[in-house]
Amino acid sequence: MSAVSDRLPVFPWDKLEPYKKTAAAHPDGIVDLSVGTPVDPVPDLIQKALVDAADSPGYPTVWGTPALRDTITGWLERRLGARDVTHRHVLPIVGSKELVAWLPTQLGLGPGDKVAFPRLAYPTYEVGARLARAEHIAYDDPTELDPAGLKLLWLNSPSNPTGRVLSKEELTRIVAWAREHGVLVFSDECYIELGWEAAPVSVLHPDVNGGSFEGIVSVHSLSKRSNLAGYRAAFLAGDPDVLGPLLEIRKHGGMMTSAPTQAAVVAALGDDEHVRVQRERYAARREALRGALLAHGFRIEHSEASLYLWATRDESCWQTVAHLADLGILVAPGDFYGPAGEQFVRVALTATDERVRAAVARLS
Ligand SMILES: Cc1ncc(COP(=O)(O)O)c(C=O)c1O
Repeated sequence: MSAVSDRLPVFPWDKLEPYKKTAAAHPDGIVDLSVGTPVDPVPDLIQKALVDAADSPGYPTVWGTPALRDTITGWLERRLGARDVTHRHVLPIVGSKELVAWLPTQLGLGPGDKVAFPRLAYPTYEVGARLARAEHIAYDDPTELDPAGLKLLWLNSPSNPTGRVLSKEELTRIVAWAREHGVLVFSDECYIELGWEAAPVSVLHPDVNGGSFEGIVSVHSLSKRSNLAGYRAAFLAGDPDVLGPLLEIRKHGGMMTSAPTQAAVVAALGDDEHVRVQRERYAARREALRGALLAHGFRIEHSEASLYLWATRDESCWQTVAHLADLGILVAPGDFYGPAGEQFVRVALTATDERVRAAVARLS
């Protein structure tokens, strides 16, 4: 019974528990900056759309309502500059994490196939490879990988955990290389509307892909841009030859988003104003935390986008975690994202203004 779970790494967050206890003992309470879970309210117009669709007795469809697909294609063109996007180019998913974890399996990958992802990365890319019994490889520059047996290449820009953004030139070079070697590219762009010192570009942009979606799929999530992590709302966009079979598999597997969630996504993707307001909140928190960390002796690398500051005191990440826990601040150790993160911590911007002020006061 445990054969599949035996393939998985130990859930690393348990290792943080003792530090959480230490931080929680602070007289003014813990400031938890360890996870990227939104804390601000779900915007009213989205809540209203969800409630208005509450009377949904029938089964929803995996491909979503035509209104949902229209809204997604409109958003891709309006916000990402993609062109000629039709319904065949999009596929709703139940939050992007399930897709990341199950994609290699749904693509039919297995032993002998390779899945590649950035050296510092969201851990679920590796989980997906392991679930499919495929091999996994971490890269610094994907175009230096041996393409033999490489079936799936994950990009993640802006990056979790580093906040690094791949430039248009880098993306163009990577997409060309992958096409030359017949490697499928999945680009996780779930932080694409959260650029601060860089303007993230999608692989769907015609300057990157030459006006064709062949061999490329982008992954988008409403969790961060619309505070919808609790709704489980995300979608794929790109090559119909990849999305068509995934749709079939996901229909058989019953992987549909709820009808009220679909209605909520229509409202959320149709509105740019709440994203602007939420961005302003994060920008202010980012400035406050960044200044306080620098003044406290940290160095910050990358972090030009996304919801994280990638910070170091040039010591073991666990020493830094312990030091901050003593101040009542909990952060994520960089080695959760790969051994290369051993001297970094990831500081999330997802805390209330009040908690961020508390963190700044404790760091000063
Ligand atoms: C890079 C990356 N991809 C995917 C996800 C999953 O997001 P969700 O399942 O909420 O869409 C996260 C969540 O933090 C993430 O950081």
